[in-house]
Amino acid sequence: MALLPLLFSSLLVASLADMTGKIGINYGREGDDLPSPYKSIQIMKSMKVGQVKLNDSNPEILTLLSGTKIHVAVTVPNEEMIRIGSNETYAEQWVRNSFIPFYPNTLIRFVLVGNGVLNSDIDSDRIALYDSLLPAMRGIKKSLNNHDIRNVKVTTTLSMDVLQTTFPPSNGTFRSGISGTVMPRMLKFLNRTKSVLFLDVYPYFAWSANPKNISIDFALLRGNITQTDPGSGLVYTDLLDQMLDSVTFAIEKIGFRNIRLAISGTGWPSAGDIDQIGANIYNAATYNRNLIRKMTLNPLPGTPKSPGVVIPTFISSLYDENHKIGPGTERHWGLLHANGTPVYEIDLTGSRNMSDYKPLPPAENNEPYKGKVWCEVAPWVNEVSLPSAVSNVCGIDNQTCAALAPGGECYEPVSVVWHANYAFSSYWSKYRSQGAICSFNGLARETTVDPSRGRCNFPSVTL
Ligand SMILES: *[C@@H]1O[C@H](CO)[C@@H](O)[C@H](O)[C@H]1NC(C)=O
Ligand SMILES: *[C@@H]1O[C@H](CO)[C@@H](O)[C@H](O)[C@H]1NC(C)=O
Ligand SMILES: *[C@@H]1O[C@H](CO)[C@@H](O)[C@H](O)[C@H]1NC(C)=O
Ligand SMILES: *[C@@H]1O[C@H](CO)[C@@H](O)[C@H](O)[C@H]1NC(C)=O
Ligand SMILES: *[C@@H]1O[C@H](CO)[C@@H](O)[C@H](O)[C@H]1NC(C)=O
Ligand SMILES: *[C@@H]1O[C@H](CO)[C@@H](O)[C@H](O)[C@H]1NC(C)=O
Ligand SMILES: *[C@@H]1O[C@H](CO)[C@@H](O)[C@H](O)[C@H]1NC(C)=O
Ligand SMILES: *[C@@H]1O[C@H](CO)[C@@H](O)[C@H](O)[C@H]1NC(C)=O
Repeated sequence: MALLPLLFSSLLVASLADMTGKIGINYGREGDDLPSPYKSIQIMKSMKVGQVKLNDSNPEILTLLSGTKIHVAVTVPNEEMIRIGSNETYAEQWVRNSFIPFYPNTLIRFVLVGNGVLNSDIDSDRIALYDSLLPAMRGIKKSLNNHDIRNVKVTTTLSMDVLQTTFPPSNGTFRSGISGTVMPRMLKFLNRTKSVLFLDVYPYFAWSANPKNISIDFALLRGNITQTDPGSGLVYTDLLDQMLDSVTFAIEKIGFRNIRLAISGTGWPSAGDIDQIGANIYNAATYNRNLIRKMTLNPLPGTPKSPGVVIPTFISSLYDENHKIGPGTERHWGLLHANGTPVYEIDLTGSRNMSDYKPLPPAENNEPYKGKVWCEVAPWVNEVSLPSAVSNVCGIDNQTCAALAPGGECYEPVSVVWHANYAFSSYWSKYRSQGAICSFNGLARETTVDPSRGRCNFPSVTL
């Protein structure tokens, strides 16, 4: 008896049946005071989450997900991928230890081998990562086959920066460093195994990098703007479709058709730093509600280039995660606050009428802030962590903290916080154009209130 459902599901090999149009979510846990995994899964069930993506194959979470209807994508972290790629024995070991104990009671449907392995900015050993990606994917697939597990897709997660050109979509091309070797080999694997390419697709980043040229309504999936691609003649009503299709065009250019795509991460931040345009609750709610409506329409719209296809979609993220590093937006991708309450109303099933949502607070920062901004110690920071941060910042060059030397115009009042305020502002204003952010590992925040006092003038950033 118990064998029957199993047999039946392996007959569905590669059918569309395991590609659900139900909205997925990224369950990230880089925060303190987040609800427990048990509570988080209760929350996901009550939100009717259809799929969940994990950054690893955490045994506690996989156990708790067993018996739920939630489909699961697990990740093989990059370091583990390198090991697995080095020897098939390790692939078998991974499958035996991290997969078999939970399957099939936990509905694992995707194994994502590596995360952002082909990103241009990856800072680990890139050659080792590139070289191990394919062997690791093959090893895991082979091992799953040996265990007669066939309804699980093995793939990897990429970001949009695998593309060298994205616009117009028909011009989509992979970076030259990957288009000749690793991409064709990987696509061949995906094509042969009928797998799905996972992509992080964030219209927010594309729009915020170029808000003058891209209409915010186009980025927010409002559907009331159209753009025709002169190369293909296809008509686009939103930026998400353009981004997806630019990847499909790039894939075609190296000889593959009908490779299916999934969105491993998308969303819109509900808050951010003063110099981060458009991160607000109004836009976040609008984007995610429109996204859900689009991805749950019946029949499914697909994209202009691939009409009608299912695009499994994972929204980032379940929670705001206060331990994430980087600019303020990084800590505000959640649909829920860290205490589990909603940041804004959202219906993941897509059945709620848009006009039934309560009014949202107006968007106040869709235009760049005009004025000066400084960088200061965040009020919640423990002073004990400041001296080493200040000595790092001041050690970069001999100018940034010159005013803090004894007798310098900012030496007094001699206090740890005062000196850190000055050092952070000075460093940020000097190096912002080279990518510096006002964060210093969470010790600092931006302010529009000039901290200067007496003859000490704080350097500022003018937006
Ligand atoms: C996954 O997330 C958890 C919680 O933030 C973290 O402890 C763990 O190290 C992460 N795993 C990987 C491989 O990044
Ligand atoms: C793979 O690892 C196993 C066990 O550690 C070892 O016996 C085998 O020789 C290794 N194979 C290769 C090709 O290195
Ligand atoms: C497509 O890309 C090429 C080279 O990057 C560029 O010269 C051309 O203008 C682009 N086409 C369009 C329509 O923008
Ligand atoms: C804005 O768009 C126009 C045409 O679509 C293009 O020629 C121009 O390079 C774009 N500007 C920026 C800053 O991307
Ligand atoms: C699209 O819709 C938004 C929100 O309703 C509106 O503000 C905007 O003006 C519309 N744009 C066009 C071109 O109709
Ligand atoms: C993709 O797979 C199909 C069979 O599933 C095959 O006919 C086709 O040649 C493959 N494409 C490439 C470029 O390998
Ligand atoms: C949504 O609500 C509006 C106003 O109540 C109504 O006119 C519209 O028909 C509804 N749409 C759907 C799809 O139910
Ligand atoms: C500061 O550093 C620069 C370049 O590293 C050097 O030329 C200069 O002499 C230094 N000035 C002082 C006062 O040490």
